[in-house]
This record gives sequence, structure tokens and C-alpha cells, in this order.
Amino acid sequence: MIKTIEWTPDNRLRLLDQTKLPVEETYIDLDTLDAVIEAIQSLRVRGAPAIGVSAAYGMVIAADSISEKDPNGYLSRLRQLADQLVAARPTAVNLSWAVESIMKDLGKQTFNSTSEIGSFILERAKTIHADDAQRCDTMAKHGLAVIPKEARVLTHCNTGYLATAGIGTALGVIFHAHEKGRIKMVYTDETRPLLQGARLTTWECQKMGVPHTLISDNMAGALMRQGMVDLVIVGSDRIASDGAAANKIGTYSVAVLAHHHQIPFYVAAPLSTFDMDIVSGEEIPIEDRHPDEVRKVFGKCLISSPDTPCWNPAFDVTPPHLISGIITERGLLKPPLVASIADAFGGIG
Ligand code: MRU
Repeated sequence: MIKTIEWTPDNRLRLLDQTKLPVEETYIDLDTLDAVIEAIQSLRVRGAPAIGVSAAYGMVIAADSISEKDPNGYLSRLRQLADQLVAARPTAVNLSWAVESIMKDLGKQTFNSTSEIGSFILERAKTIHADDAQRCDTMAKHGLAVIPKEARVLTHCNTGYLATAGIGTALGVIFHAHEKGRIKMVYTDETRPLLQGARLTTWECQKMGVPHTLISDNMAGALMRQGMVDLVIVGSDRIASDGAAANKIGTYSVAVLAHHHQIPFYVAAPLSTFDMDIVSGEEIPIEDRHPDEVRKVFGKCLISSPDTPCWNPAFDVTPPHLISGIITERGLLKPPLVASIADAFGGIG
């Protein structure tokens, strides 16, 4: 079991520093909101659900930093700090989902003291943490329905233990299918520019004993053409109510290639990744990151001249018509996605 996120007995957020993997397994303990925001922005913790869980603990740390004793003043300061946290990264909706669900629950309670508020937030954060692990397990079981025997699966970016509080989303489905003897090979896109596939997914597959082969991103088409991929499964950072799914840059290219080669393309994501306030992928905010991430490999080695102009969107959006289904904790949502997503959210208040 890989422990990515932990709340320590001395009230700190412990994270496995993913920027150091696979070379070093280093943990960092955070006790300020600035440190939590820095960890999210620099991808020490990353992956939509893991960002959401870290942000929930970030709210505990934010609450603890407020000296105001009057509950109303305390809550308005907490709102300001919550806004700073939400702004850390724009695309993964799990971040704002976790923060806003805590703020919403706070609004439903009455408190006699600010310490009661702090304890309430800690309990909520622990619930969000445990709940994400549970969602992953349920998704993994539902996902088995789309995995054939002897499956050769291609995936993009990293969506396992490192990206969630549990077994993972897309990689969780793959790990569970491996336990059931269904996986012949996992093809892992290296995932330029930050190499989450090469650095993190291969590391996780190795730890889990899952057969895997690393390819560079530009090899996926040739692999599909040679008939070596049975299906694609990826995660998502935000899914619009029509099923358009934002995920790591390069996912859209994989979806187009899969469509061309008539290979099923699945997204695995918990309901906390859906943004029911938006109706299409056009509305998903896409994070632009520093050009040096494209100019350099692993933050160090320049591969272009230092002032080469670069475009560096961290995510792209795959339109619903390229998606064969979305694996959620409520089961497999099939096309037409707009209707099955509406059904999955039916009855949720
Ligand atoms: O920039 P990152 O590494 O946070 O991007 C992560 C991804 O794109 C994942 O595929 C996504 O969060 C789905 S996760 C379980």
C-alpha cells in the first residue's frame, strides 16, 4: 500500500513528495496554508482526488491559523483563506468541491467556540479522505465490466494511489482487473512535459506487480495500428454535465487515435470530479503552466534554447462523442452521457 496523504497525530499534513519520484521516496510535513498551496501548485501532491483531499486538510490548517475569537469574524477570515486555496490550481474541480463542501456544511451548523469549528473541519476532512478511498474501491469493481480477458490497456498520466486517497481511478480499475487475472499489459504514455506516466505510473505498476511497458507519447498511434491495444482508460480532472472530460494534456490525442482505430476509450472518475454547473467542455478552465516545463526535462536539463517560446496547457478536453463510457462509483455511465450523468446525479441533494 502506498500512503500518499496522511494526517499526523501532531496535526500536520504529510505528503509523499511526488516531484522526487521515482528517485527518492520523501515525505514532507506541512503546517501552514502557504505550504499546502505551494505543494499543490508545484505538484508535490497531484491528481484531482488527491488535490481535493489535501485541500480538505488545508482547510484544517487554514482554520488553525486564525486568531479571531468571534465565530462570525473567524468564518469570514476562513472564507478568504478558502478562496486562496481554491485558486491554487484551476482545472481539478475536486479542489473546490472539497473546500466548498466543507464551507457549506459549516454554514449548516451553530458553534459555541472557534475550537469547535476547527474540530468540525478536521472531522469533515477525515471523512472526505476515507470517502475518496471508498469511491476508488467501488469504481475499481464497476470497471471490471469493461475489461476483457488478457487485456492490453493503454493509459495516460498517473491515476493510481498517488493521484487519489485510495487505489486510484483509471489505474485503480486496472489494478483490480490485474488482481482478477485480466491484465496482459499496461501501456503507459510517458506524459510530457512532466512525465507523470514515466515517473509515477510505472513506479506504481512495478510496486503492484502489474506488467507494464513505457512508451513515449508519440508511439501510441503506431501501437494501436499494430493491434496491440484493446482499450484505453484514463482519469479526469473535471467532467462537464454533457460528459466532456478534461484530463492531462495529450489525453485528447489518445482519444482521437482510439476513435480512429475503433478502440474503446473509457474515463474513470468519482462523482466529485463532475461539475454539474457547466454544460460543456468549453467552460472548463485550463491551467497554463510555466514554459520552462516544456523547455526542460525533469526541471533541469534544457532541451531548447532558454528563451524558446512555448505553449504549456496542463490539460485538454475530450468531447463526449469520443468517450465510450465513464466508470464511476455509481456504475458505468454509457452514452448518451448527458442523460446517464443526469441519472447518476438524480436524487443527490
Ligand atoms: O497535473 P496533474 O498531474 O495533477 O494531472 C493529473 C491528471 O491529469 C490525472 O489524470 C487526473 O487528475 C485524474 S486522476 C486520478
